Amino acid sequence: MTFPIRISITFLYLVYLVYAGITAFAQETYHEFDNENPIWSDNEGIHINAHGGGILRVKNRYYWFGEHKSSGQNGNKAFTGVHVYSSPDLYNWNDEGIALEMLTDVDSKLQKGAIVERPKVIYNNNTGKYVMWFHHELKDQGYSAALTGVAVADNVTGPYTYLDSFRIHPGVWPLNFTKEQREKAEKLFNQQEINLNDYAAEGVFLIRDFNEGQMSRDMTLFVDDDGTAYHITASENNRTLLISKLADDYLSLTNDYIRVFPGGKNEAPAVFKRKGKYYMITSGLTGWNPNPARSGVSDSMLGAWKSLGNPVQGTQEQEKTTFHSQSTFIIPVAGYDDAYIFMADRWKPKNAIEGEYIWLPIEFEDGIPILKWYAQWDLSFFEK
Ligand code: DGJ
Repeated sequence: MTFPIRISITFLYLVYLVYAGITAFAQETYHEFDNENPIWSDNEGIHINAHGGGILRVKNRYYWFGEHKSSGQNGNKAFTGVHVYSSPDLYNWNDEGIALEMLTDVDSKLQKGAIVERPKVIYNNNTGKYVMWFHHELKDQGYSAALTGVAVADNVTGPYTYLDSFRIHPGVWPLNFTKEQREKAEKLFNQQEINLNDYAAEGVFLIRDFNEGQMSRDMTLFVDDDGTAYHITASENNRTLLISKLADDYLSLTNDYIRVFPGGKNEAPAVFKRKGKYYMITSGLTGWNPNPARSGVSDSMLGAWKSLGNPVQGTQEQEKTTFHSQSTFIIPVAGYDDAYIFMADRWKPKNAIEGEYIWLPIEFEDGIPILKWYAQWDLSFFEK
């Protein structure tokens, strides 16, 4: 009896080897970024489903976290969770599954059908944990909740355990909001007839949301060389960015936070550090439609940010629409000097799962970041 069993096991193993060989052979290997290709395939030939994403590098591998969208009208809602892919070279991506799962528990804020956008993951050296933050809107409440959410994991690909979502800095004033500014904003806020959006720069939303906590929508994270991490978010009804220092374990915000570009209507913040300076690329505020990007620079994360204008250099159409895309993250590329990739989304709100990706090298002119269109390009760009 043992003989035929051994034969059939050997046969099955051979079949498996042939199958694995064929799939490995059929799998395409990529050697460039193709911004003209609407489909960026993963290792299974499926369009990568990681929108509004961010990248973390761990032990020579890049991990791409992003919104898992579904097809059809409801595709922008989160039914699955945060998807993660990994890559040795930034061109070829392995599907690593769902890092943070939406929950079936209808009492949880993270229940299926909520909105989860722009997830970003950082690694905490002190605790050895991976920490994910994301923009979170509650189920069936549109974009009114304006929360930031946090989850934690022992392994980079997860599973991430959901901790909580909340408004930020209840009862705390920003470091760069003076007593005079506060008094002026309070006076304005108390004038019943004003439209708050018209006085956002003065800080009327700060007054309105002081007790409940400030709004947090489009967000990103940034970890400085000394391990200090920052949460950067579109607040005050998307009118003003807030940059907050994270606690040492990265699981909460400290009280140290500043307002950036008050009333400037910046969304989609992406931050990087170059030659001791901190840079930011953002978008304007036009929903899913593209608009001209903006950029800024500062000597410190909680310092005075200065506007640098639209980083796009190209045709009028490219400058007006940021190549029909919106920023999500800037990847510092390992192994090259001065190499940063601008990572952006081409949203398809009617069928969100078809959302496309645009990645471009960041160039610099007199210390100012510049984005130019390259339909196809590869990392040898940074050898120039
Ligand atoms: C633009 C934001 O950048 C996206 O992340 C998303 O929140 C849409 N607005 C929703 O309209």
